[in-house]
Amino acid sequence: MALPLLERFVAETNAGSFDAVIDLGDRISDEDPERDRLLQSDVAMCFGRLAVAHHHLSGNHDVACLTLADNEAIFDLPSDSRSLIIGDIRCVFWQPDVRLTRARGLHLADGDLARLEALLAEDERPTLLLSHVPLSGHAQTGNYYFEANPGHATYAEVAEIRKAIADAPCPIVALAGHVHWNTLTTVDGTPHVTLQSLTETFISGQPAESFGVLEVEADQLRWVVQGREPLSLTLPWRRAKPRWRPPLPTFAA
Ligand SMILES: [Fe+2]
Repeated sequence: MALPLLERFVAETNAGSFDAVIDLGDRISDEDPERDRLLQSDVAMCFGRLAVAHHHLSGNHDVACLTLADNEAIFDLPSDSRSLIIGDIRCVFWQPDVRLTRARGLHLADGDLARLEALLAEDERPTLLLSHVPLSGHAQTGNYYFEANPGHATYAEVAEIRKAIADAPCPIVALAGHVHWNTLTTVDGTPHVTLQSLTETFISGQPAESFGVLEVEADQLRWVVQGREPLSLTLPWRRAKPRWRPPLPTFAA
């Protein structure tokens, strides 16, 4: 049902007024190199019918049998770490290593953290930080896939990532996919949002049909998730990095 849902999304988007479409990755469920190449091409053709610019990150399923370069070639678009302005919003796309096996979990590769630090350090303006894997380390209690597999829901280096975000000169709102549910978690004053997927069925048995509409106006960011699991929230779009008091040590200490 994925392609018809994606086609409907493209039609609805083309009928609306948007600056861009952002794809957070996991465009396919991997099978083998030949089949994955075919499926990614089908998805790319569908995205190609968008009337607005589209920007992509790749997820673990996109690079299970293909490489990041394969994905970039199929879409003829970058899927690396980069910063760009969409509308008048500064966006940092972070594409660390997303390869995931049942035994390995998620680990950053050499240079991934430095790339994040460098991109965040470039600018003091408020920044939308986009990644496939959520960076908050939020609890997976009740998550169909990840309650028993929390090491597959975020990076082993989540503490270092948290420090990079806290030390960045720019206020940040982070948005990610991967965990197949809608959440908001605040870490050190930084809001982290995750988006349910278009095709996930684990809650109702029907595809969630989820996509999010993000709008920044003045000092507010509005996030509205459409589909069977709707969510609407408003966050401050801060112009200056918020101060966050370090949490206390244990009460025993
Ligand atoms: Fe994923």
